Amino acid sequence: AKEPVRILVTGAAGQIGYALVPMIARGVVLGADQPVILHMLDIPPAADALNGVKMELVDAAFPLLKGVIATTDVVEACTGVNIAIMVGGFPRKEGMERKDVMSKNVSIYKSQASALEKHAAANCKVVVVANPANTNALILKEFAPSIPEKNITCLTRLDHNRALGQISERLNVQVCDVKNVIIWGNHSSTQYPDVSHATVKTPSGGKPVPVLVADDAWLKGEFISTVQQRGAAIIKARKLSSALSAASSACDHIRDWVLGTPEGTWVSMGVYSDGSYNVPAGLIYSFPVTCRNGEWKIVQGLSIDEFSRKKLDLTAEELTEEKALAYSCLS
Ligand code: NAI
Repeated sequence: AKEPVRILVTGAAGQIGYALVPMIARGVVLGADQPVILHMLDIPPAADALNGVKMELVDAAFPLLKGVIATTDVVEACTGVNIAIMVGGFPRKEGMERKDVMSKNVSIYKSQASALEKHAAANCKVVVVANPANTNALILKEFAPSIPEKNITCLTRLDHNRALGQISERLNVQVCDVKNVIIWGNHSSTQYPDVSHATVKTPSGGKPVPVLVADDAWLKGEFISTVQQRGAAIIKARKLSSALSAASSACDHIRDWVLGTPEGTWVSMGVYSDGSYNVPAGLIYSFPVTCRNGEWKIVQGLSIDEFSRKKLDLTAEELTEEKALAYSCLS
């Protein structure tokens, strides 16, 4: 039998946490033959709710779930974890300045970085979900210098999956037949959902999405803004932000990272920029990646036209500003 893998979920008493932990316990992330031990962290005001989630995990009698740690102690939560899904953070409340939210999250990610660095298992893989996701991940990277930078990522897979969903609806094809969309940049409204290289599987082979859609104005306009604004549309409809889709996409992110992407398919992940596509190095930026043997690699050599170039640069500029704002909160 396989040794259990320890998976940390921070903010586990929150909305995404509540959707995410049962998926993990069912084997959605690492497969139906991989036992898991869940580590759940939240803050003291949420301790009772967190304990309630633990009770429900016991009640669900998941065969793969070999243990549950529910704690408000960061060190206990981080000890020995192989995978860390960072969902906990400080939400933007009415009347709060961007800088105030940033400052709260910078201090959270700084201290959780140190705990992970000291107590997580060697080669722990980290995905940051909590907003501002890219910049929280960057702070985590900076304050956990012994964790290899390739192990620290942020979630843009939800945006990627939203783009697949929009194309599938527009073309009336199955979502599983659409692939190779790209989310470039920040997990924010400046992200650039790009279908220039996307294809749809048809009985006569893969067909380019731009050819099938045959409506450049829609692809450059409404499609992009729908994906960028989807989070806000969900809040308007549900009075709560996306949770099941965020949880499911976080599972997709980890699964593909650990188990690999299918041949000929890439996914979007927020990763530490090495300067590919002339994106400034030193930002956590969403790129198209393929994964093999537990490592991601940025897809190289895709053509970037003038329209795309502007969009890639705009979202990079926003991330550069966020980085500066985050650093100004540190001093
Ligand atoms: P939520 O407010 O329901 O849950 C957040 C949880 O984090 C709460 O239980 C809170 O007590 C906890 N928390 C706060 N500070 C913490 C700390 N220092 N350590 C551990 N836990 C802490 O929020 P929800 O809806 O679950 O969303 C979580 C985050 O994910 C938000 O920042 C949201 O903006 C972000 N998000 C990101 C998406 C993405 O695609 N990257 C998509 C959807 C949401």
